[in-house]
Amino acid sequence: MITRSRNSFAISKVGGAVLLCVLTLFLGCSKETTDAPILIKFPHVTAPATPKGQAAERFRQLVEKRLAGRVTVEVYPSGQLMSDDDSLDALAFGEVQMIAISLSKLDRLTHKFQIFDLPFLFPDLQTVEKFQASDYGKELFNSIVDRKLLGLSFWHNGMKQFGGPVPMRSPQDAAGLKFRIMESDVLQAQILQIDGNPQKMALGEVYQALQTGAVDAQENTWSNTYSSKFYEVQDYITETNHGYIGYLVAVNPDFWNSLPDDIRSELDAIVKEVSVWANEQAASINLAGKEKIIASGQSEVIELTAEERAGWQQAMRPVWEKFSDNIGADLINAAEAYGKPAE
Ligand code: LMR
Repeated sequence: MITRSRNSFAISKVGGAVLLCVLTLFLGCSKETTDAPILIKFPHVTAPATPKGQAAERFRQLVEKRLAGRVTVEVYPSGQLMSDDDSLDALAFGEVQMIAISLSKLDRLTHKFQIFDLPFLFPDLQTVEKFQASDYGKELFNSIVDRKLLGLSFWHNGMKQFGGPVPMRSPQDAAGLKFRIMESDVLQAQILQIDGNPQKMALGEVYQALQTGAVDAQENTWSNTYSSKFYEVQDYITETNHGYIGYLVAVNPDFWNSLPDDIRSELDAIVKEVSVWANEQAASINLAGKEKIIASGQSEVIELTAEERAGWQQAMRPVWEKFSDNIGADLINAAEAYGKPAE
């Protein structure tokens, strides 16, 4: 009995020591885990000087200042880590924690963002902003949580222009041209509507495609056209302002919900602050891009008369009808009303 008890004591002593070691290791290990800053990997595809590039960098800096030692943000601009398409999967699998993806590219996951691609629906960024601030706009943040994307905010880039090998004053000038477009069915329909040949392609491939003639033309904002140097490989840019490029700033919802409350609310506040700052300066960054393109003398910028612009508008309008079942005619009417002057 005694021996047994001694043995069991001896055993329990050994066991205790092992347990203590394991506990120490565990605690040591868990302490390290607790103390290690939370890492937010944030890949995106545009250059650091673009509206999105600047917003992402400001987010990183503010997090570094306000959540020092607790959260680290690694921003990977210019598609250096992955394409937008890959980033949707990487976010869902938790390989990256945050993205700011063009609304057009969400078409792969849902039709709910298609309204932003309807040609000539939103005349300018202020109108888009009013629509995004509406109940519908806010509901969009939670609309693809089941695909592991939780929206936190919208960031603007700007309005799109058409660039190509000929001066495109009318839709007829675009007929037969191969256009690079983002991965969106609405944009595909828009190009088909003007008898062009749409090619869905990642941003990183466009310069070479224009250079080699794999595509003839493209649509993008002044800022992207300048920073991606498309003006070097297309002779004309027509200022149509026919569509919008903006972003959903999104996180993986599981990652987001796993954050300590104080960190989550501080990150949320920083995203909101950065959004106001970034959206205020998006238009001027685009204007600067336009001026630098003109100064380069490498692309001629075509300004349309009101009549010419109306011709594009009229030619593309049937796209609204094609997508009105997906989007909802009421919603399209509501969005259109934001752009009309108050009576
Ligand atoms: C594009 O692919 O042209 C845009 O989505 C790039 C961007 O993110 O502005």
